[in-house]
Amino acid sequence: MKILGISAFYHDSAAAIVEDGNIIAAAQEERFTRKKHDPSFPTNAVKYCLQECATSLDKLDAIVFYDKPFLKFERLLETYYGFAPKGLKSFITAIPVWLKEKIFLKKLIFDELRKIEAFDKKKVNLLFPEHHLSHAASAFFPSNFKDSAILTIDGVGEWATASICHGKDNNISILKELKFPHSLGLLYSAFTYFLGFRVNSGEYKLMGLAPYGRKDHENIKKYEEVIKSELIHIYDDGSIWLNQKYFNYATGLKMVKDNAWEPLFGMTKREPEGDLEQKHCDLGLAIQNVTEEIVIKMARHAKEITNSDYLCLAGGVALNCVANGKLLNEKIFKDIFIQPAAGDAGGALGAALIAYYIYYNNERIISDELDQIKGSYLGPSYLDKDIQYVAKKYGASSSLIKDDDYFYSLVADLLANGSVVGWFQGRMEFGQGH
Ligand SMILES: [Fe+2]
Repeated sequence: MKILGISAFYHDSAAAIVEDGNIIAAAQEERFTRKKHDPSFPTNAVKYCLQECATSLDKLDAIVFYDKPFLKFERLLETYYGFAPKGLKSFITAIPVWLKEKIFLKKLIFDELRKIEAFDKKKVNLLFPEHHLSHAASAFFPSNFKDSAILTIDGVGEWATASICHGKDNNISILKELKFPHSLGLLYSAFTYFLGFRVNSGEYKLMGLAPYGRKDHENIKKYEEVIKSELIHIYDDGSIWLNQKYFNYATGLKMVKDNAWEPLFGMTKREPEGDLEQKHCDLGLAIQNVTEEIVIKMARHAKEITNSDYLCLAGGVALNCVANGKLLNEKIFKDIFIQPAAGDAGGALGAALIAYYIYYNNERIISDELDQIKGSYLGPSYLDKDIQYVAKKYGASSSLIKDDDYFYSLVADLLANGSVVGWFQGRMEFGQGH
């Protein structure tokens, strides 16, 4: 049984292919097109997956898209009506695109696939699982845990912004969901925006900025208090409520309300590429601390309601490896598995696995290996002759060294002399690249 998973049209488009439960290949479109976070249909990634699995579109049992377009459309409409007439500007921007492309997603997917190769669409089963279920499946099924709590946290899917699921054998039950507009991912993105980085891209820079904050300085405490008293309320189960007075993502095209945050934190929004000052680092540390507190509370609650010894993590917030490290140190669970492609790219893999295990009800494969994603090396690899061809094409000087010992000592010498060495080896990784 061969199943193709696809994520596309938001950010980080990707494709993945699963054959009889084995993850054969997965790749992100940006690695082929060289457009960071490329949201377009993953034509190159699909072609690669089919090739790696030695199959064609006609031979697939199912093609699975990583979320439900109609539910997402419903969120856009209801959010608009809920806030009307406030969101008119973003509504006018978003809706024509939805009407033209996303609502007719089935046709759009078939049209794009037909550009790759001819196939009979009547023979293909096209499925649309929910966004957070795709995230949950991308972590649980490859984890080799028979029973596990699953925590997914991101910006937003259709309605859900976080979920607690329970994975058992070949099934996943959704136990709890946090709904839009209350979202830890969007909160973190709002700070990413306020601190002058790009939303949906620069969150890792904010995470990297945080350690430059002054750990025990009174400012950190002050900022944390402002965040908790004005911007959000944190409940004991880790769910959060975001005060929409300060945010603009539900109705506008910006993350935060104009001039609303400045008096709260006593600083203006940092301009992109503007100077980085101590106060920016301090604010970065404050939101990182709050994020970690929420993630740990959510994980504790997941433990309470599943009573499982293990935890799987996915969704964009699971890319916050600093928070993940702290969570691991809390020892709430015996072990944790984190999907390396925790963002929406991983949804392609999760979607394919949902079809195999949940939709077709196949028995779960569990192995003794650490995981089933081959260390996340699921992309294409290249032969020496391919590399030589590219070097020649672009006029780069190159030499082929066949003696391994000599090669390693050469690289060690280069490093010892202060050179920077790039190392390219084996299959391409599936997961976030910066
Ligand atoms: Fe997501």
